[in-house]
Amino acid sequence: MDTQVVIIGGGPSGLLLSQLLNRAGVATVILERGTRDHVLSRIRAGILEWGSVEVLREAGVGARMDAEGIPHDGTLITDADRVVHIDFKGLTGRRVMVYGQTEVTRDLYAAQDAMGTTIIHGVQDVRILDLDGPRASVEYTVDGQRRRLTCAHVAGCDGFHGVSRKTIPADKRQEFERVYPFGWLGILSRTPPVADELIYANSPHGFALASMRSESLVRYYVQVPLTDTVADWPDDRFWTEFRRRIPSDAAARLVTGPSIEKSIAPLRSFVSEPLRWGRLFLVGDAAHIVPPTGAKGLNLAVSDVFYLHDALIAALKGDQTGIDAYSARALARIWKAMRFSWQMTTMLHRFDGEDSFAARMRRATLAHLAESETARRDLAENYVGLPY
Ligand code: FAD
Ligand code: DHB
Repeated sequence: MDTQVVIIGGGPSGLLLSQLLNRAGVATVILERGTRDHVLSRIRAGILEWGSVEVLREAGVGARMDAEGIPHDGTLITDADRVVHIDFKGLTGRRVMVYGQTEVTRDLYAAQDAMGTTIIHGVQDVRILDLDGPRASVEYTVDGQRRRLTCAHVAGCDGFHGVSRKTIPADKRQEFERVYPFGWLGILSRTPPVADELIYANSPHGFALASMRSESLVRYYVQVPLTDTVADWPDDRFWTEFRRRIPSDAAARLVTGPSIEKSIAPLRSFVSEPLRWGRLFLVGDAAHIVPPTGAKGLNLAVSDVFYLHDALIAALKGDQTGIDAYSARALARIWKAMRFSWQMTTMLHRFDGEDSFAARMRRATLAHLAESETARRDLAENYVGLPY
């Protein structure tokens, strides 16, 4: 079978790219390894930059987000009982939207269904071939049968463990990586949020984040050792630990309840360069991972897709300049988000075995943030999202 663009991976990157391309009349096929239920059950990111909000609206999937998402004009960064308010709106004129990745994915699936686009689930053994020829091809197995697609371009939207990045010969790509010595344990609970805004909390016991999905559903995280498993964290232990890491006035207000989801994610910074290899383009987590502290993972996937969809539409009309520029253009924004996520992670987490100097540096950074509007503006500018 022939199509214009084969998209490997039906997570947020792949679905959004398919959505934007199909709206422009470009034919695509998405090849997704998992089931639709599997993709929709993953609880991940929760914060959209305003640029992402605008891209989702442009893609025709903004209606439920605008009705049910919660705009936030600021966030709280705390150091034990010291509370620093970062006033996004006042400092940058912009805000962010609380709207979960699960909901974004659900909206994209609904829109794809309405357009009748092709999404093939349950594919195995994807192989990407002929990337330097006049047509690329992609082979895969579904329902026990080996099949083949040919296309003009392949978008690698298959996440960190996907096949796309590894298709680029090892000696033709450069990888940059930092693995952090802790993970985040996250829970979902049907309880009211402990504050109107998110709380990013540094404490002598480690980091905690109080986030939310709605007025009655919270997403809370605590920093945990990499060796811990979910079984080590019954709900009682989670609440005790979470309570002692957030400021005492918030702790006094905290409403607890049973967790309805619990998972541990390791923290990593990773970039693979370049993002293009012949007819293949890497997008989102296939090319880069940020630690979640800056809420940038999903937002970077959206900006990659935004750059690539324009470039592919132009290329299919004969103008190659956009696809030639894609890798450098996307990487310029990616590296700035890498820096911000690394800086937020360093500022807010306790590193096992760290010396007393490191703890003082964190405290001084947070004191500076409390006292300097310039420092707060810098944080706000990065958090709400740098321009595309
Ligand atoms: P993915 O969401 O990984 O989607 C890739 C898709 O490709 C998947 O559906 C997968 O099944 C499919 N696939 C993989 N291999 C193949 C293959 N060989 N063939 C076909 N299909 C394949 N970001 C934040 O901002 N905040 C958070 O709190 C946060 N928490 C996270 C927690 C976890 C556990 C993880 C893994 C990520 C988290 N992120 C978070 C990051 C954010 O969720 C990602 O940046 C975002 O999902 C990237 O979307 P993507 O479509 O590029 O990749
Ligand atoms: C959420 C996750 C993040 O990594 C973050 O920085 C903010 C919010 C969340 O899951 O809600």
